[in-house]
Amino acid sequence: MEYALAAGLSYLSGSVPWALLIVRWVAGVDLRTVGSGNPGATNAARVVGKRWGAFILLLDALKGAVPALILPRLLTGEALTDGGEAWRRLAVVCGAAAVLGHVFPVWLKFRGGKGVATGLGVAAALHWPGLLVGAASFLLVVKTTRLVALASTVAAWAFAITCGVDCLLVRPDHFAPARWHLAGFALLTAVLITARHAGNFARMLRGEENRWGGQDLKPA
Ligand code: G3P
Repeated sequence: MEYALAAGLSYLSGSVPWALLIVRWVAGVDLRTVGSGNPGATNAARVVGKRWGAFILLLDALKGAVPALILPRLLTGEALTDGGEAWRRLAVVCGAAAVLGHVFPVWLKFRGGKGVATGLGVAAALHWPGLLVGAASFLLVVKTTRLVALASTVAAWAFAITCGVDCLLVRPDHFAPARWHLAGFALLTAVLITARHAGNFARMLRGEENRWGGQDLKPA
């Protein structure tokens, strides 16, 4: 029961389309009709500027981080300690539900964003070494290519690989199933994020993908 409640609340948190709401409020534009058409922070930055984009990135990250940090504590009464297996398991469920809420929001007929910012929030809440490796990978790729979609996908895989390595390195006497749950979540999220960027990769192959800092705002 607590899992269903946690998953439902986290899904609702993830499903709030901040980018769409804020861009409509600031510029009176439906974000799905401009730029990449993606209702996410990167596309919002193209339309209403980097400051708003950063704000939306923060909100989209928080809608993943907050449920993953708060709900397990409320529902299990456990603190996040090494012994807090139930906490950690529930946190992974919350994180996964929030990402699914962002990608498949019921309010937008299940056509949402790509899960990067919300996944980033969950990563920040649940695995800071993975977050650091993912963030470093993102910065490296975006600096060298200015392709946010490529950088996001590489970062998602870097996070998943770091979580996997963490599982393999843990001493057998410290075997913790929740670590594997987190690694499984990270792997599935990397697959989902890759699939959601299929259109971006097709545009990259055609040489038509918008680069960060470019001004191309063709209708989606
Ligand atoms: O987080 C989404 C980003 O990786 C790509 O966004 O608008 O270029 O499709 P966009």
